[in-house]
Amino acid sequence: MSNVLVVYWTATGNTQAMAVKVAEGANADLKEISEIAPEDALKYEKIAFGCPAMGDTFEEAEEFLEWYLQVEPGLEGKKIAIFGSFGWGSGEWMEDWSERVSQTTSILFEQPLMANEAPSSDDEEACVAFGQRFAKF
Ligand SMILES: Cc1cc2nc3c(=O)[nH]c(=O)nc-3n(C[C@H](O)[C@H](O)[C@H](O)COP(=O)(O)O)c2cc1C
Repeated sequence: MSNVLVVYWTATGNTQAMAVKVAEGANADLKEISEIAPEDALKYEKIAFGCPAMGDTFEEAEEFLEWYLQVEPGLEGKKIAIFGSFGWGSGEWMEDWSERVSQTTSILFEQPLMANEAPSSDDEEACVAFGQRFAKF
């Protein structure tokens, strides 16, 4: 078992494609939320969460939120990274999510990583590099 977990939810596969590359860079264990219980996710030292924009607020990704709310109270003091795909605008959901994390004692890694729709090859490279840096964080 790696000490880094990459865990994601995806509606159409774009955030999954990012997650695969972040996990490759971080040498992390990779799970979709239905594949890992919240208490097992919390056994990892570092967790990178992937969730796409499903509205202007983070909470609108309800499928992910339900799982995340079970993990969130256990994230105190943990190193976490957040990433996801979006369709338009400037990534309001990610600002909202990052603001939410900043109100906790979790240690947020860098600026969140976003890709517009399906990650391009440049986005994929950025995902691998993000994962590599997160593993060293
Ligand atoms: C119900 C729904 C709501 C969405 N709302 C937003 C939004 O508010 N802002 C945005 O940038 N993209 C929005 N999108 C677009 C998705 O974030 C975008 O297609 C993304 O690539 C999906 O990632 P996924 O393939 O990982 O599910 C929405 C998509 C759906 C299906």
